[in-house]
Amino acid sequence: MDLFEYQARDLFAKHDVPVLAGEVIDTPEAAREITERLGGKSVVKAQVKVGGRGKAGGVKLAASADEAVARATDILGMDIKGHTVHKVMIAETAPEILEEYYVSFLLDRANRTFLSIASVEGGMEIEEVAATRPEAVAKTAIDPIDGVDEAKAREIVEAAQFPAEVADKVVNVLVKLWDTFIKSDALLVEVNPLAKVASGEVIALDGKVSLDDNAEFRHPEYEELHDKAAANPLEAAAKEKNLNYVKLDGEVGIIGNGAGLVMSTLDVVAYAGEKHGNVKPANFLDIGGGASAQVMANGLEIILGDPDVKSVFVNVFGGITACDEVANGIVQALKLLEDRGEKVEKPLVVRLDGNNAELGRQILTDANHPLVQRVDTMDGAADKAAELAHAAK
Ligand SMILES: Nc1ncnc2c1ncn2[C@@H]1O[C@H](COP(=O)(O)OP(=O)(O)OP(=O)(O)O)[C@@H](O)[C@H]1O
Ligand SMILES: [Mg+2]
Repeated sequence: MDLFEYQARDLFAKHDVPVLAGEVIDTPEAAREITERLGGKSVVKAQVKVGGRGKAGGVKLAASADEAVARATDILGMDIKGHTVHKVMIAETAPEILEEYYVSFLLDRANRTFLSIASVEGGMEIEEVAATRPEAVAKTAIDPIDGVDEAKAREIVEAAQFPAEVADKVVNVLVKLWDTFIKSDALLVEVNPLAKVASGEVIALDGKVSLDDNAEFRHPEYEELHDKAAANPLEAAAKEKNLNYVKLDGEVGIIGNGAGLVMSTLDVVAYAGEKHGNVKPANFLDIGGGASAQVMANGLEIILGDPDVKSVFVNVFGGITACDEVANGIVQALKLLEDRGEKVEKPLVVRLDGNNAELGRQILTDANHPLVQRVDTMDGAADKAAELAHAAK
């Protein structure tokens, strides 16, 4: 999960990384009172999860409360690289900025370790610096057990050739930033710019943080960091039911057991779709092993609730879960939905193979549900599902 700048700022503050005051708002008028409290001037900053906000006009200085309201009016609703600005942060204005640095910690997957990246040439052109003069960017591997203590932070500061007068302060920021990185189970913490201001202090003026979703169970406090407005409602509903669901933009709903099988199902459906008006998979949904009628009903409910879905392909290979249980699950799930008044009107193509396949197929034949068709090969079923989706478009 990527955080907004204001959330990164709050996280930094909690771990004593030096930051400036800032508050997030979603109506321009709210900028007035905050700016007055900040001494009559502020910086209005677009909160979008994409880089290059400054260059796109999403970061503006305001010399008065009126001006802050005007800038917030300009920036709220603005589109930055396809992201609409719904919130702005009204931040304290930094004292005169003398230099802008870049520091980050991240997971280095390729080398199976952590990495620090630091440069004294930070600011809005850092990508340019990294591309044209890689020697100005110092990369230092970090042992995950040893982490970053003062000595390691000094090594980073020397590698990046920070000026002597800020060395101690940058060391302090690095140690605190590492603390943030580890205690939050982050995949990335980045400060750009880390600014040296007129008073000699160094302050994190902009932050990017990406948290490791796999560690969320250790952090109940992350629940409130989720951007609920941006979440797809179907994905949110699936998450609540512990389903592994990803919305895609095609027309054929997919349910399978096991991530590998579902991935290949997406491929065969996309391939079959080429013959049928270019229909495509509408989602990824893995109901996992041991799919009960309830799990099947939950899965079908999510998929049938997607208005883009025109047909559904249920592709199950019985292993630990026998096909007769899955077939019963499908029959019961349809009944469960109909009993609940959720009329099922979209055709289902079901392919069952593996453990107890014959039994499972017989159950579907006996149930004789008008919307359910059995096709016993994966390619054949994909073709049928694509054909039905195309016909219903
Ligand atoms: N609170 C502040 N006070 C004074 N100047 C600021 C403040 N925040 C940002 N700036 C100036 O604006 C520039 C751009 O701000 P910032 O780094 O937050 O956005 P950005 O880098 O364009 O966005 P992104 O990191 O998303 O690409 C900074 O390099 C800094 O010079
Ligand atoms: Mg920045």
